[in-house]
Amino acid sequence: MERLQKVIANSGYCSRREAEKLILEGKVQINGKIVKELGTKVKVKDEITIDNVRLNKDDKVYYLLYKPRGVVSTVKDDKNRKTVVDIIKTNVRIYPVGRLDYDTTGVLLLTNDGELSNLLTHPKNKVEKIYIAKINGILDVKAIKTLENGVEIDNYKTAKSKVKIRKIDKKNNTSIVEIRIHEGKNHQIKKMFEKVGFKVLKLKRESFAFLNLLGLNSGEYRKLSIKEVRQLYSLFKY
Ligand code: URA
Repeated sequence: MERLQKVIANSGYCSRREAEKLILEGKVQINGKIVKELGTKVKVKDEITIDNVRLNKDDKVYYLLYKPRGVVSTVKDDKNRKTVVDIIKTNVRIYPVGRLDYDTTGVLLLTNDGELSNLLTHPKNKVEKIYIAKINGILDVKAIKTLENGVEIDNYKTAKSKVKIRKIDKKNNTSIVEIRIHEGKNHQIKKMFEKVGFKVLKLKRESFAFLNLLGLNSGEYRKLSIKEVRQLYSLFKY
């Protein structure tokens, strides 16, 4: 049994607040009866209609999570560690779009929309990701050029990337580097830096396509707006 506004929001139809408004306005029915009571409990088999249209509880949902450090990017972990799915309060079965390492933070999408997930992760679609890496040592021009031209990792040559130094800390001998890639190989950024002789001490994904972390703190998440979902689909030509 779940609260009506929560079921509506979880279906991806609208936010919980908007669902409450619809309920108060008398636009929501359960099994054919108008329900204006916020918090009415509904059963899985109850039929909900909004403006006389049946709510599809299998509707698609989309979340943007600021992944914190120390969680795995899977639905279930065989070592029983906390997963990114555990953070999101929903009854809908969602999964992450691609992966970030256990110790990597930043933008991670979660959805039950397999089609969009496939489009976003397919290498041919070249979705841009910006990572910010804190590395040991001072990054030099030669290393930047090598990274930008592509390096060989695991018998695979990475595509061209864009690298910028954001900050250099001579005292602590570290650099903060921005790197833009459109691939998503396993541990790609760490391996790329390792290849040019640097160790990644911290890694954060600052953006994924046009989505960034604005307004979110580590561990927080929000739903994508319908506009953002449309914008994501519009990145791909059918
Ligand atoms: N590259 C990495 O090395 N780790 C991540 O989590 C993402 C990209």
